[in-house]
Order: sequence, then C-alpha cells, then structure tokens
Amino acid sequence: NMINLIDKLSTTHTLSYDEMYQLIEHRNEELANYLFEKARQVRILYYGHDVYMRGLIEFTNYCRNDCYYCGIRKSNCNAERYRLTKEQILECCDVGYELGFRTFVLQGGEDGYYTDKILADIVSSIKAKYPDCAITLSLGEKSYESYKLLYEAGADRYLLRHETANAQHYSKLHPPVMSLKNRKQCLYNLKEIGYQVGCGFMVGSPFQTTECLVDDLMFIKELQPHMVGIGPFIPHKDTPFAGKPAGTLELTLFLLGIIRLMLPYVLLPATTALGTIHPKGRELGILAGANVVMPNLSPKEVRSKYLLYDNKICTGDEAAECRMCLTHRIESIGYKLVVSRGDCKKPN
Ligand code: 5AD
Ligand code: FES
Repeated sequence: NMINLIDKLSTTHTLSYDEMYQLIEHRNEELANYLFEKARQVRILYYGHDVYMRGLIEFTNYCRNDCYYCGIRKSNCNAERYRLTKEQILECCDVGYELGFRTFVLQGGEDGYYTDKILADIVSSIKAKYPDCAITLSLGEKSYESYKLLYEAGADRYLLRHETANAQHYSKLHPPVMSLKNRKQCLYNLKEIGYQVGCGFMVGSPFQTTECLVDDLMFIKELQPHMVGIGPFIPHKDTPFAGKPAGTLELTLFLLGIIRLMLPYVLLPATTALGTIHPKGRELGILAGANVVMPNLSPKEVRSKYLLYDNKICTGDEAAECRMCLTHRIESIGYKLVVSRGDCKKPN
C-alpha cells in the first residue's frame, strides 16, 4: 500500500518507476499529510527550522528563446524590455546585503547583449565587494567554455531547470531549435565544472502526464543536484499557452515532499509561483519540505516587467517589504529566516 511506499522512499530515498507512478496516481489528503510529516522530519534533521533566503536580481528580460509557456519569450511584443547596468546590479546587492541576503541570484533571459566578458566582470565585482556571499547564475543554456569562464570569475551555483525530462513533452513546450538533450548536457557540464547545480520543472505544464513527472523524478535522482526548483505552471496571457489551466497547489506540494525524501540534503525553494497560486503557498511549501525562499531584489521600476506568468506576487513591493513579509510568514509556521549563504549540506 501507499503508506509503505512513503516509508520505503523515506528510508531508501528511492522508488522504482512503477512505485513512483502508483504513489503519484493514488495520492490523497491523508497520504499527503503522512508524506509531509516525513519530509519535515528529514528536513529538520539536516537543516533544523532554518529557511535560507536568496535575493533574486532579474537583470534582463530580453530573451532569444521562444518557449511556449514563458511571458518574456522573444515573440511577445507586449513585453517591455529592460536591461540593468552593472552599477544597478551592484546597487541591488547593496540593498540586499543590508537586509541580510548572503546569496545573490542573477537571473535573466538568454540575452546576447551580456557577453561572457561583461558577465564575468559583473560576477567578479560582486564577489570582490561581498566575498562572504554566494553568487548563483540563472542565464539559460551556454557553452562549456562560457560556464567555465563564469565559474572562474567567481560564480558558485547555477540554476537551469530541465523543464521536463520527457523528450516528447519537451518538444511540446519548446520550439524545435531547443532540445532536452542539450538541456541535460548543460546540467552535466555545470556539474563537472564544479558548480552547485539546480534543475527543476513546472508542475501542471500543458501536456504533462504522470509519466512525465516520474521521468522528472528519475532524472533528478540520476543528476543528484544540490537544488531543485519546482513551481506550478501559470499561464501568461501573451503566450501560446494563454488559455491553459494552471498547475495545482496540491500536486506541487506532493512533489515537494517526494523530492525532499529522495534527496534529503537538497535545497528546495518554496517558489514565487507557488505563492502566486495560493496566498499561503510558500508557507505550505515549507511545511511540505521546502527550505528556501527567493524574494525579489530587482529595482521596483523593472519588477512589473519581468513577468514569466500572470498575476505574479510582490511586483509592487520593495525588497525590504518582502524581507519583512517573509520573516513574519515564516515565523508564523514555526520556522526562521536566517542570515547565511545557505550552502547545501550534501557531503561532497
Ligand atoms: N509559469 C510558471 N513558471 C514559469 N517559468 C517560465 N514560465 C512560466 C510560467 N508561465 C519558469 C520556468 C523557468 C523559470 C525561470 O520560470 O521553469 O525555468
Ligand atoms: Fe513580497 Fe510578501 S514576500 S510582499
């Protein structure tokens, strides 16, 4: 029965393809509560009640790609495009450092304006000013050489969601120029170079089946990433997926719980998308096994322009407001937002 499967997952950290399929298909509220309890136990064992925060700096919304789900895809001519200068990015870090952030995530579309040289200069300047901080990059697919150069410039971590580990599904979410094969190769390259790597996927993206989700979980198990970013798919009005339904809170939380049990040490964010589909989404995410939050440090003027999906939360709030808001939210469920780089406690 399903309780036994959760017990097996929590002691062996793995399930067969078939078992994983059955667990997802037969999930219900009672099973979910059992899963979350186990997920919290293992999370508390490794990370206590600490919640790590990362300051997200969305520095460009130009993108050469045309992913069908994404609001900043190149075909969306309604998107108001912007780029931040190195000085503006450093100002975001200044504000963030004062608020206790010790990880900065530089995220952007795949924007050719930022050459390796420009990016390396931005990374090394942040690192020189804040040597006690970790730098995470989230810039999409690049060559091995570019990844290596940025690592040598001082980047510590890289987030590149695989989006779906099922090749057929991948081709329904992306134009033919993009491939799952290249996506996976990028993740293996990043790992080989020495980055702490994060993969991830959207829950409830169009055409996703339970088989796709099991493929995602099996890929995650194989990659052994330090971080896994998952959040519900939310439609954006100016994309080909405009009329598609959003992913659910319920399935996203269940998958967070499973991932915590599969990879006890993993850094698992309660994402902004989760906070967007439900007012208590991020708190519920933490109670399902997540241990990271990633509020926005982008300047207020550009916040409402980095819209990957509709109704994104916090687009009108200052960084300091989000910091306070999250402190209260996290304390309200008995956890604590900490000032720390928040490295993965994985032994290797
Ligand atoms: N809904 C939810 N998440 C999205 N992303 C992109 N578009 C959407 C959307 N419409 C996610 C992708 C990407 C990350 C930065 O944001 O998974 O990797
Ligand atoms: Fe931004 Fe609550 S986290 S206002």
